[in-house]
Amino acid sequence: MKDNNLKNKSGEVCIEVQGLWKIFGKKADEILYSGLRSGSKDSILEKTGCVMAVRDVSFNVHRGEFFVIMGLSGSGKSTLIRLLLRLIETTAGTMHINGQDICRYNNDQLINFRRHTTSMVFQHFGLFPHRSVIDNVAYGLKVRNVPKEERYAKAQEAIETVGLKGWEQYMPSALSGGMQQRVGLARALTTEPEILLMDEPFSGLDPLIRREMQDELIELQDKVQKTIVFVTHDLHEALKMGDRIAIMRDGEIIQIGVPEDVISQPADDYVREFVQDASPAKVFTASRIMNQPDALLYEWQGPKAALHVLSTAKEEHAFMVGRNRQFLGLVTIKRLRDLIQRQGGSLKEAFEPNPPTTNPETILEDLFPLAAEADYPIAVVDDQGRFMGEIQIGSIFENMIQDKGAGTDE
Ligand SMILES: Nc1ncnc2c1ncn2[C@@H]1O[C@H](COP(=O)(O)OP(=O)(O)OP(=O)(O)O)[C@@H](O)[C@H]1O
Ligand SMILES: [Mg+2]
Repeated sequence: MKDNNLKNKSGEVCIEVQGLWKIFGKKADEILYSGLRSGSKDSILEKTGCVMAVRDVSFNVHRGEFFVIMGLSGSGKSTLIRLLLRLIETTAGTMHINGQDICRYNNDQLINFRRHTTSMVFQHFGLFPHRSVIDNVAYGLKVRNVPKEERYAKAQEAIETVGLKGWEQYMPSALSGGMQQRVGLARALTTEPEILLMDEPFSGLDPLIRREMQDELIELQDKVQKTIVFVTHDLHEALKMGDRIAIMRDGEIIQIGVPEDVISQPADDYVREFVQDASPAKVFTASRIMNQPDALLYEWQGPKAALHVLSTAKEEHAFMVGRNRQFLGLVTIKRLRDLIQRQGGSLKEAFEPNPPTTNPETILEDLFPLAAEADYPIAVVDDQGRFMGEIQIGSIFENMIQDKGAGTDE
C-alpha cells in the first residue's frame, strides 16, 4: 500500500498497528487459532456466537497526519479506535505508539497514556450536563491535578480557539449541537494531546453546521498539527479531511490511500461502490490538473527577449517568475508590444493586472468561480509564492466530467 503524498508530514511513524484482531465473545482464542478465523463474519457468528470485529489489521499513522478510517456501520471502526486507547483489549496483534508497545503498559502507564498522549472526541459529545462549558473543558486538566488557575487559563484558551468565547459559564444544554461539539473539541485540546482520536464527531450535526465544523477542524489542524485518527462513514467527509483514508469492511482494512488514489483506483467493487458518486470536483486538486507552460518568462529578461520567447512558443501570454520561481505576474503579448513601442520601462509594466492564481491544494469545485471569471490560464502558486504550473480553464471542466474509473492517471 502506498504512503505517498504525505505533504508537510514528518514521515515519522507515530502509530504503528500490526496484525490486530478483535473477536468479541468467549471463543475468541479458539477462533483465532483455528481455521475458523478465515471464515466470514456471518458464519463465525452463526457457528460460535462470536463477533469478528477487527480482522488482521495493519497500518501506520505518521506524526501530524490526518488519518481517516471509513466504512459502513458495523465494519469495526469504533472497535479499532477504542483498541488504540485500550478501552477494549485486543485478541491479538501489536500496537506501538511513539515506538512504545502500549499493549504492555501497566495500569499506571495506561492512565498516563490516556491523560497525556491522547484525547478522544465522541459522536455524542460526551459532555457533563451539570457542569458549565468551562468546567467541561477544564476537566481533563483537573484529573491531571493541574492547579485551578492554570487549568482555567488553558481551558479559556481552548474555548477561544474553537470560537466559543462568551459561553464559558453556560450549561451544555443551552448550546446547539455544533457548539456542544466545539466544547468536546476544546476539551480534547486543553490537555495538549499528541494524538486526537475522533469517532464520528460530526455525524450528529446537520449538514451546514457539519461542513462548517469540518472547515474549522482543517484550519485548526493547520495550526496545531496533531496526529489525528478520525472515524467517519461519510465518503465526502473522508475525502475532504483525510491525508490518507483506510477503508474498512467486515473488520478488515481493504484499502489505504490518499483520497485521489481511493477515487481513481478503488481497490475493489466495495470501494468502487463507495466512491461511485464521489465527484472529482471535490477531490482533484489544482496540483493534479496543472501543466507546465510552454513559455515561461524570467524577471531578468528584457522585453525583446520576452517577445521572442512568446513568439517562438506561439503564445499570446505567459507567466513571469523571479529567482527560485517566485511568481511575479502575467505578461501579454499586446502589452509587451506596447512596452517595446514606448521604448522603455521594465517588463513589469507589461503585466496584466490581477492575474488569476490559486493554491496547489485547491479542489476543482473551488476553482470554478475563478475559471468563470478568468480570461487566462490560472497560475498555481504555493505557500512560499513559488510558481508551480498553470491550469487551462478547459481542463477544469474536462476533469470534472471524465470517467472517474479510468484515464485519470498521469
Ligand atoms: N462489546 C461488544 N460486544 C459484541 N460485539 C460488539 C461489541 N462492540 C461492537 N461489536 C460488534 O463489532 C462489530 C463492529 O462494531 P463497531 O461498533 O466497531 O462498528 P462501527 O464501524 O463503528 O459501526 P458504526 O458506524 O455503526 O458506529 C459489529 O458487528 C458490532 O456488533
Ligand atoms: Mg462506530
